[in-house]
Amino acid sequence: MGRAVASAPGKTILFGEHFVVAGEPAIAVAVGLRARVEAVLTGGREIEVESRNLGLRASFTVGGDGGGPLYPVAVAAAEALREAGIEGGVRVVVDSEIPPAAGMGSSAAVAVATVAAVAAAGGVELEPGRVSELAYRAEEVVHGKPSGIDNTVSALGGAVLYRKGVGARSLEADFSPVSIVLADTGRPRNTGEMVRRVLELRDAFPEVLGHVYRAAGALVERAAVHLERGEFEALGRLMNVNHGLLSAVGVSTVEIEELVYRAREAGALGAKLTGAGGGGFIVALAWRESAGKVAEALREVSGRVYVAPVEAVGVRVEERDI
Ligand code: MEV
Repeated sequence: MGRAVASAPGKTILFGEHFVVAGEPAIAVAVGLRARVEAVLTGGREIEVESRNLGLRASFTVGGDGGGPLYPVAVAAAEALREAGIEGGVRVVVDSEIPPAAGMGSSAAVAVATVAAVAAAGGVELEPGRVSELAYRAEEVVHGKPSGIDNTVSALGGAVLYRKGVGARSLEADFSPVSIVLADTGRPRNTGEMVRRVLELRDAFPEVLGHVYRAAGALVERAAVHLERGEFEALGRLMNVNHGLLSAVGVSTVEIEELVYRAREAGALGAKLTGAGGGGFIVALAWRESAGKVAEALREVSGRVYVAPVEAVGVRVEERDI
């Protein structure tokens, strides 16, 4: 029976979260924390899923319905079985370095790695773009109607300019002069719920919020230009403006503001919440030599702080025995 291991990175959104759901562009980068998935074809009728991180196991019937935290993994596996024309079931073991429920794209990275691992176990190596499309089906189970940015950047790696319904463009960027610092508010958040709240605000005040959305879109277009030119001071300033727009749509919190201001005061080029908000992580951009100082200032109030490089490698099949 075939066996394969695949991995995929988590992500942080540098610009445009929430506004991306309504069609504005966004920029995300893959970060150097990965989800690893082992898939072993069983020939049975079940998709068995084990998560080492969550300490959970569950079984699902191929093509059947389900629920619970491991069901999205089974959906990703089922998509890959169908795509690769594999008859029978699979056992999937997930091991992830990406903190869950933190806005770092852990569910998308797991879905992306699952699709790649299951297909590879059946002898099929899928293009990253196709892996992303199949993983999106699992993301719909987790988040409702996500924009698709998380699975896209996890599959492609590097920096990605993304527009829902249009697609992704990889941005040519040299991130070597800077580091990304991520700090946890300690409060988990629910992406689906935050997205619904923001859209409800937009629908309640369309003539006001329309300006905020268009400002966010213009900001992202401008940020893409600075990113490709390596103009990190400008990028940091735009991150701060983007944070203001996210506060305007109601997804910041006291804990987020404290982390954002600490990062800026400790010398970050820019800092903002990242992902859905309401909790989760903030992201700061800092010159490589200042990142330690920024991280130290954040550690005084945050239990989890990462200084992460931007990860150039997206989804990757690491081992295959077929
Ligand atoms: C979540 O990582 C980012 C949001 O923009 C939702 C989405 O893009 O689906 C808040």
